[in-house]
Amino acid sequence: MRAEYTGGPILGIETSCDETSAAVVDETGIRGLAIASQDAHAAFGGVVPEIAAREHVRSLDAMVDHAMTQAGTTADSIAGVGVTAGPGLVGALLVGVNWGKAYAMARGLPLIGVHHMEGHLFAAALEDPSAQPPFVGLLVSGGHTLLLEVREWGEYRILGRTRDDAAGEAFDKVARRLGLGYPGGPEIQRAAETGTPGRFSLPRPMLSKRQGPEDAAYYDMSFSGLKTALSIAVADVESRSRLDEAVADLAAEFQEAVVDVLVEKTMRAVEALGLRRVVLGGGVARNSRLRQRLAERLGSTGQLFVPSPRLATDNAAMIGEAARVRLLAGERSPWSLNADPGLVFPGLVQGR
Ligand code: KG4
Ligand code: ZN
Repeated sequence: MRAEYTGGPILGIETSCDETSAAVVDETGIRGLAIASQDAHAAFGGVVPEIAAREHVRSLDAMVDHAMTQAGTTADSIAGVGVTAGPGLVGALLVGVNWGKAYAMARGLPLIGVHHMEGHLFAAALEDPSAQPPFVGLLVSGGHTLLLEVREWGEYRILGRTRDDAAGEAFDKVARRLGLGYPGGPEIQRAAETGTPGRFSLPRPMLSKRQGPEDAAYYDMSFSGLKTALSIAVADVESRSRLDEAVADLAAEFQEAVVDVLVEKTMRAVEALGLRRVVLGGGVARNSRLRQRLAERLGSTGQLFVPSPRLATDNAAMIGEAARVRLLAGERSPWSLNADPGLVFPGLVQGR
């Protein structure tokens, strides 16, 4: 029975949404990573929870086998198990949590439940070991948008968050309104390449110059009104001409508006904390305009850490890495670990 973790390969499992993923990570980085993206949802324009859970059941064993083979490890050398315990779709999470629990219990391994968004924070560090605290973290995914001060791993201060839609969710909904495919982020980025921002004018929500760091609104974000403004602009175009001739310009203006908000909010944190190191995570971190604009604003005196595309979106390597750091710190989850769709961010410290 190896109840304590003192180093060695960790098996990471991620099934919170529509990616079924398994990974083997250790102190040298990623040794094996397998991700099955569920295509079945595209036809519905969004994730169907029942389909997601069923697909996880179907694919998880194969993903674990792939990751282990790639890593050149056998089950005997795995030293710990990390699994996403929340937030996410409850049926989807349950598949991974129960698989991870059963595996760890059967093999006498330490188990740790990982918060999905904390996992996203670790993605950049898997490729660039210098992506370590202290830093300002910007997590932009399909379900969450969080601006964090990270002084230490496991110690997080939430500076700001979206008050309604997540950034990725806004990309997905706007893409649908523009008649583009799912997921919407890459589709909008592609359409925006041939468009010009400014032909249409969309708002930049919550960027009032009169706010200061003491106002909650200084770091908080909102993307729902922007989505509505886009929808009104689309209706206006449709009443006068054909939408397809305006899609590129609308996409470019929408992308620019989201990027303006994300970059400005992040730079407010950078300036207020005097911390010119930013770590990006989550699917929207794949957006090239966001990366370019943030890098420009940080300049040569700042550092921007961005995970590569496959690690920006959901994957089990980031979960394995978060698990490795927590297990090394002596933590472990009880066998009563359960899927928690509303799991709160761990290690929160108070104060603005
Ligand atoms: O982190 P992730 O894989 O899943 C969640 O935890 O939600 O993020 C998925 C989100 C989707 O909303 C997708 O549209 C967005 O990331 N996304 C992008 C890009 N690639 C993916 N958004 C903007 N630009 C992109 N290039
Ligand atoms: Zn995610």
